[in-house]
Amino acid sequence: MTALEQAKSEIQEKGFLDIKTPNIDYIKEINLLRKEKNAVILAHYYQEDGIQDIADFVGDSLALAQQAAKTSADIIVFAGVHFMAETAKILNPFKKVLLPDLKAGCSLADSCPPVDFAAFKKLHPNHLVVSYVNTSAEIKSMTDIVCTSSNAEKIINSIPKDQPIIFAPDRNLGAWLIKKTGRDMLLWDGACMVHEAFSIDKILKLYAENPDAEIIAHPESKAHLLKVAKYVGSTSGLLNYVKTSKAKKFIVATEVGILHKMRQESPDKILIPAPVDDDNCNCSECMYMKMNTMQKLYLCLKYELPEVTVDIELSKKALVSIERMLELSK
Ligand code: 13P
Ligand code: SF4
Repeated sequence: MTALEQAKSEIQEKGFLDIKTPNIDYIKEINLLRKEKNAVILAHYYQEDGIQDIADFVGDSLALAQQAAKTSADIIVFAGVHFMAETAKILNPFKKVLLPDLKAGCSLADSCPPVDFAAFKKLHPNHLVVSYVNTSAEIKSMTDIVCTSSNAEKIINSIPKDQPIIFAPDRNLGAWLIKKTGRDMLLWDGACMVHEAFSIDKILKLYAENPDAEIIAHPESKAHLLKVAKYVGSTSGLLNYVKTSKAKKFIVATEVGILHKMRQESPDKILIPAPVDDDNCNCSECMYMKMNTMQKLYLCLKYELPEVTVDIELSKKALVSIERMLELSK
């Protein structure tokens, strides 16, 4: 077996290259490698601080897909989770898309298995399918229009009022959209384990102790939390709200990695991460997002592994629903 074949089979098992990197200056090496290879590093706001700081672009899932659609780089290094890198690959079937850890998945995407969803869709043949971007390529291939939390309301409102809709996979975002748009949608029963872990009792106690604070939340959170939130929005929506709000203090109910960018953009504001139910768990950290590290980012850029691949026929089908979203988001 050649060294490359060995590395590839190891990645299938582990998800990343397990090579020791003593005395490596990751920042220096990553900067050299990305220039040499014409690579672009796209990172989500939930990535660890160092990855956000070295990325060429940091954004929410919509902005990251838009960047991926227009990049002229030869290699896209996606510092995020699998569905995000997969979306970038579908938009760039002939480019190399790398993910520092191939096992960086998503509990929400996992909550919608393609076989079960196909059966559900078959039961409702007159429904148009709107799926959140947090889904596999298989689900996107069964979808009419993809959406993210920053454009979901606009996309639902663009659909004729008499057209029945299936919304998948997030039941919380779906319920919030029903409330916002007045549309009666059929919801898939999926959820994100990070956003479902927030404790409404502890958040309300914290709010009672900090009555000058504003509660802000991502729409993947449960309805009782969204009801008490002063602002509900995508990661970029939350960042923008903190920047522009007159309030000085915020209780932030989304993955805790966002506080890094929030502190950079709004240094004068007091940011309190929303507490979770289980005191013994770092549940407000997305364990998948945190699988990527500076070391894995360096290794994947150096060896151009692990690579995200999507079957070309599946990719063509999934592309239609992603392109509709990009068109409607202009
Ligand atoms: P955003 O689109 O708001 O960045 O959300 C992505 C995500 O995975 C939230 O958990
Ligand atoms: Fe998926 Fe939730 Fe992690 Fe976002 S925070 S990537 S929805 S598991």
